[in-house]
Amino acid sequence: MPNRQKEVDMSLRQFIKDLGYISGGATILAGMPWLQSFTPEKAKEIKKEKARIGFIGTGSRGQYSIHAVSAIAHADIVAICDNYSPNLQAASKLCPNAKKYTDYRKLLESSDIDGVIISTPLYLHAPMILDALSAGKHVFCEKSMALTMDECKAIYDAYQDTDRVLYFCMQRMFDEKYIKGIQMIHDGLIGDIVGERCYWFRNHDWRRPIPSPQLERQINWRLYWDYSAGLMTELASHQLEVCCWAKQLVPESVMGMGDTVFWKDGREVYDSVNLIYKYSDGVKINYESLISNKFNGMEDQILGSKGTMNLATGVYYLENEIDRNKSGIEQLISQIGNKVYSSVPTAGASWRPETQDKYTSHQILSGKFNINQGQSMIGALKDGSDEILSAFCQACITGEKGDNIVEEAYQATTLCLLGNEAIKEGKKIFFPEEYKIPYMKF
Ligand SMILES: NC(=O)c1ccc[n+]([C@@H]2O[C@H](COP(=O)([O-])OP(=O)(O)OC[C@H]3O[C@@H](n4cnc5c(N)ncnc54)[C@H](O)[C@@H]3O)[C@@H](O)[C@H]2O)c1
Repeated sequence: MPNRQKEVDMSLRQFIKDLGYISGGATILAGMPWLQSFTPEKAKEIKKEKARIGFIGTGSRGQYSIHAVSAIAHADIVAICDNYSPNLQAASKLCPNAKKYTDYRKLLESSDIDGVIISTPLYLHAPMILDALSAGKHVFCEKSMALTMDECKAIYDAYQDTDRVLYFCMQRMFDEKYIKGIQMIHDGLIGDIVGERCYWFRNHDWRRPIPSPQLERQINWRLYWDYSAGLMTELASHQLEVCCWAKQLVPESVMGMGDTVFWKDGREVYDSVNLIYKYSDGVKINYESLISNKFNGMEDQILGSKGTMNLATGVYYLENEIDRNKSGIEQLISQIGNKVYSSVPTAGASWRPETQDKYTSHQILSGKFNINQGQSMIGALKDGSDEILSAFCQACITGEKGDNIVEEAYQATTLCLLGNEAIKEGKKIFFPEEYKIPYMKF
């Protein structure tokens, strides 16, 4: 464990410094201020202190984060809580010294805990966050923020009135390829953003085995509207956060469709959604998610007038590297002239005037980096999750709030919830005035 502890977050801290952070002064990461507290200099400030962390919810994501926090030198896991015994026992094996609780309110009463990490089903996020802040704890909660717009607003308002730290696990904000890729977009590499296209495809029913029928909703909470907001809050929230981060705007309206097309097993939430979000300048986010076919995988694609950034796979393509002056017909004729084709197609599939394979791919990061294929329900290694947890544990010691993290989570979650509303109502929905916060620029 000790070696892992040293390594876990220094790489991102150094990366941020290399990107242009100036210690103690101005930073070129002005668009990503949450990273300013995550530098090598700040790591030195922690000295030998340790944040005392309690976990609420020790299911699959909770246990993943227990592994991560165990490797953070400036954190100690002192308490764990779950009301489902098998998950509490499994977590206890990972951190045998942590005190066990089955009631999270009792855990919150403990004065030996600085911060809590909440990894429970979505419907419990709001009550647990609000109770934890009231109890004086720093809070890290899994995405998405909450199940309803009102709950999101209540959390946002509570955050305005507290000196406690609040983080949401929007880990792309701490993922090197997203940080660098979005910085390149903001520096103009791909020109004006003219469209955004995100998708997440899996072939998995989202079901977990249940020991008895009474536990169906507790264990398979993702499948029911009272507990979850389905694909939008489970998957799209990460991606819509990235779209707004890249565009530096929030879409003002959304239209969408959602259905259960394949997993007709009694679930309530959709297994297929298609939505279009529209910004005030006419640029659109095209969002698609389907969990009965995984061919396309997952991508967060930013389309610019001069290039395309595929953030999830860490590559970009530039428009000026293809021959833009030739029409599709001219390109085909010149290809035939160059004997690219052995026979002349008269029609059909080979007639593809401007195909993707004309583009050269460039890597956002040099060297090896992790690509999240999007297939795991628990999380992916080196996707920024370990680093955002480390930043939170650091904040439990320093008390320094993470700039814009709550705001980014708020806008991503409310966009997801509005998307579901647009689907359910079958009409275009505009972002409601009463839920706008000053951070949001439309
Ligand atoms: N950031 C990511 O990439 C990522 C990945 C996976 C999951 N998540 C999020 O993590 C959260 C949990 O997801 P999961 O897959 O771990 O679900 P899970 O069902 O595996 O775990 C949830 C745990 O919460 C426990 N729980 C329920 N009610 C409780 C209560 N009243 N008190 C204490 N514990 C309670 C359950 O018993 C269970 O152990 C969700 O919000 C999900 O969206 C985030």
